[in-house]
Amino acid sequence: MKNNKVLIFDTTLRDGEQAPGATMSPAEKLEIAFSLERLGVDIIEAGFPVSSKGDFDSVYNVAKHIKNSFVCGLARSVTKDIDAVIEAVKPAKQKRIHIFLATSKIHLQHKLKKSQDEIVAMAVESVKYARKRMDNIEFSPEDASRTEKEFLYRILEAVIKAGATTVNIPDTVGYSTPQEYGAVIAGIAKNVPNIGKAVISTHCHDDLGLAVANSLGGVQNGARQVECTINGIGERAGNASMEEIVMAIKTRSDFYGLSTNIKTKEFYRISRMVSKATGFIVPPNKAIIGANAFRHESGIHQDGILKERRTYEIMNPEDVGVPSHEGLVLGKHSGRHAFKDRLKGLGIELPEVDLDRAFARFKDLADKKKEIYDEDLVAIVEDQGHMAHMAYALVDLISTSGTNIAPEVVVTIDHKGKKQTKKSTGDGPVDACYKAIESVTQLKANLLDYSIKAVTQGKDALGEVTIKVAIEGETVIGRGASTDIIEASAKAYINAINKFVAQKK
Ligand code: KIV
Ligand code: ZN
Repeated sequence: MKNNKVLIFDTTLRDGEQAPGATMSPAEKLEIAFSLERLGVDIIEAGFPVSSKGDFDSVYNVAKHIKNSFVCGLARSVTKDIDAVIEAVKPAKQKRIHIFLATSKIHLQHKLKKSQDEIVAMAVESVKYARKRMDNIEFSPEDASRTEKEFLYRILEAVIKAGATTVNIPDTVGYSTPQEYGAVIAGIAKNVPNIGKAVISTHCHDDLGLAVANSLGGVQNGARQVECTINGIGERAGNASMEEIVMAIKTRSDFYGLSTNIKTKEFYRISRMVSKATGFIVPPNKAIIGANAFRHESGIHQDGILKERRTYEIMNPEDVGVPSHEGLVLGKHSGRHAFKDRLKGLGIELPEVDLDRAFARFKDLADKKKEIYDEDLVAIVEDQGHMAHMAYALVDLISTSGTNIAPEVVVTIDHKGKKQTKKSTGDGPVDACYKAIESVTQLKANLLDYSIKAVTQGKDALGEVTIKVAIEGETVIGRGASTDIIEASAKAYINAINKFVAQKK
């Protein structure tokens, strides 16, 4: 029988976290894992347990809590790594080990300094070792797309014979092209005699911007698992983006004739969650979940959309959970009930106390901003989440600046019920604000990155600030939203400090 289901293997927490500067806290990783499970991901690669105690603990923690998806850990072809994965995924209901070993000439000669025979022996030995302890084994010949075909077929046949149940074909350096990568997969399907006993998987990097196209090329030629990440984050230029691959398969089911288990309405929320945890802003023009992905600027297009949506839209924004930005959703006179209802429509249900606080913020925002859109509501609720377990809270902020006066900021901050007010000047209002906050918290945070974006359009839009700071050698991401950009900056800074304090505890 023809298998039309493509399994989705998410590696946001492993390869995604390998993106420079994308370190996530254990709590953020668990929160993302829960969302991946809710999204319907088949396999979650939660980390590389042998690489550090933190990674081991994170994989263990994910394995303990995830029930519906397989939880997987990465290992090199050595017993120490394999043992670490076996221990780390032990509590999982459904578990997998992912073993990798480089196979291309360039890696064998310069990195591993081993012959092809030695590599096959190592791979077989490690798969056999793992198979005695676990049923679900994935093997990756690293740099497969640059590996000599005959050797690739030989090692795949050997590891399948040794017990591998999935063979993953990494385009490790993002060098391949859709036709070439598709041909690699077709070649494997044709020339590896026991391939029927394993699932073929794709794993493509985006160095040439071809990761999604290459993955789809693989799927067209028989791959039935795709390895990918949310927002396409990952080593160097990143991995194949899950939302793009899944929506291509769904939107063009007429062409691919395939499906996945993914609940696509979750994409927008999980994309924001990953962006929040890593501090990587999603570009506005990013396919599927970028802020402009469903915005129509041209008058001709707007006219077409009003007459018939399908004239210029190939997907329904609601199908990927993008909040509506057309039309006013709530205003100054909307009540708590309407507010709660609207949040429910966005898939957000808050406990009563959090709802009260979010509603108060909504009212506050409605006083400053005429039109409140779904995106504003999402930003309010996310800000709310930041405030829930905080050591420090911004009570008041006064900022004065001008062309000919030194910027000065006065902040009042609540710390465990005690309010403190401090004033500072600086090179600019943000600098002055951060110095004032620092003199309250007595925590020196070194600002590594600062970015601001408007949540919606218009002069009165909410500004969302994302920062990356180093505190006592730890990198922490902070986010804050407000119609006042200095206040949003202050909230982002305090959010980072609160996260640091919580992590230290
Ligand atoms: O890109 C790669 O080759 C990898 C392997 C560990 C599968 O991430
Ligand atoms: Zn990779």
